[in-house]
Amino acid sequence: MSTPAYPRVASFKTAGAFRDHLRACGAALSFDDALEAPSASPLAVPFERDGLRAGNRFCILPMEGWDGTADGEPSDLTTRRWQRFGISGAKLIWGGEAVAVQHDGRANPNQLILTPRTHRAIAGLRETLVAAHRERFGSDADADLAIGLQLTHSGRYARPADKARPEPLAAYHHPQLDRRFPAGVRLLTDDDLDRLADTFVAAARMAYDAGYRFVDVKHCHGYLGHELLSARTRDGRYGGSLDNRLRFLRTVVDGIRATVPQLGIGVRLSAFDMGPFRKGDGDVGVSEGGPLSVFGALDSANENMDAALADARDLLAELERMQIRWVCVTAGSPYYNPHMQRPALFPPSDGYLPPEDPLVGVARQIDATGRLKRAFPSIAIVGSAYSYLQDWLPNVAQHAVRAGMTDFVGLGRMVLSYPDLPADVLAGRPLQRKHICRTFSDCTTGPRLGLVSGCYPLDDFYKFHPDAERLKTLKG
Ligand SMILES: Cc1cc2nc3c(=O)[nH]c(=O)nc-3n(C[C@H](O)[C@H](O)[C@H](O)COP(=O)(O)O)c2cc1C
Repeated sequence: MSTPAYPRVASFKTAGAFRDHLRACGAALSFDDALEAPSASPLAVPFERDGLRAGNRFCILPMEGWDGTADGEPSDLTTRRWQRFGISGAKLIWGGEAVAVQHDGRANPNQLILTPRTHRAIAGLRETLVAAHRERFGSDADADLAIGLQLTHSGRYARPADKARPEPLAAYHHPQLDRRFPAGVRLLTDDDLDRLADTFVAAARMAYDAGYRFVDVKHCHGYLGHELLSARTRDGRYGGSLDNRLRFLRTVVDGIRATVPQLGIGVRLSAFDMGPFRKGDGDVGVSEGGPLSVFGALDSANENMDAALADARDLLAELERMQIRWVCVTAGSPYYNPHMQRPALFPPSDGYLPPEDPLVGVARQIDATGRLKRAFPSIAIVGSAYSYLQDWLPNVAQHAVRAGMTDFVGLGRMVLSYPDLPADVLAGRPLQRKHICRTFSDCTTGPRLGLVSGCYPLDDFYKFHPDAERLKTLKG
């Protein structure tokens, strides 16, 4: 693919230059020109809701590494990643990484899976994170560290046995998404979903026993929970009306409440979505068009965020009724519209060149998150997609929290290259520029080519990992 046509964020050396560019590219994004001293920073203010307490406003977003064992236990690479989450200084750990609740729901043969057999090892991940946090920040530093575990079934994107063989288990037939699976797509039956809800509850019980304070019942990125939300054309108890489409979530939540009432529950939600994109002229992404049957459909040709968020508002209202008041907002899917889900200058190998300045994608997620926060002030909200802001991340983050557009700033890719960015910001230290994620997307390309995920360009550990050579050869 040729080189993207947008100026690099690192080239904006002053607040004025950055602001001018945001205006020029149409990214409606506000930021603070200067960072507050640590004692006055809104990012340093503790937060508590429903008994879950986090000592500051940085959150580590869930990120898997395609590096568990065949049995679904963590490997040394997994443990290293969680250690680095622990030294980040962030006080909210949203899920760690996607953990499948049963084998057929694994997104790859190396995804973690929570069963009685792996339970001890997955408890160990949390302990590793806490130990790293204590070692870096003091022996009682974990008193305000909130750690959850993300539970998932990968649904349409399941590849449990072989990295190269999709075994999609979908909620409904989607004309465009089904085309991407020439060998066919199997639909889960209502009975399958009844049993799966029980398995989620059993996994939540294990997460609680392992010391996790909350579970994220994952509803994002095109995986099963998310797809069920748009199963308008599905027959039976889990499709059609909103009530039916929320049945799976409700059944899981009721089951958890009946089994482990002390366990917190959160939901990571793709709050809006577009249809699938593909490579167009010059490898630039174009919408495939067609019916937008996704949850929170945003028409790429005529964006109306307020209308797109109608679905999310219905869901958040229901979450409030269920007394779930922790939501992590994300968007789209890494499989069919990666540019909106994780804005990047350099696309992953199965992607396309960005059809917009990635800052527009960042601004879109921050705007949507702010709208939901305003509409649901009592829900604790975590925002996503800040990594592309690079050198300007702390300034945008400070503004977003100060202005009440989000309660937490979630960090994904940035912590793979620069795990202790939150600690540096909270201590008033300047950013270490050589560690700033420049969105080369190797953390996504690696797994797409069957390798482990990591920051190959900037993290020396992965730079010299045997998969780095393979990645170079496979990328050509
Ligand atoms: C390598 C990698 C693995 C990811 N794994 C997960 C995951 O397990 N669960 C999840 O909800 N999101 C996952 N994501 C998405 C991130 O949590 C986040 O939403 C996304 O990277 C955008 O945030 P950022 O701009 O800070 O990177 C992953 C992203 C990357 C790059």
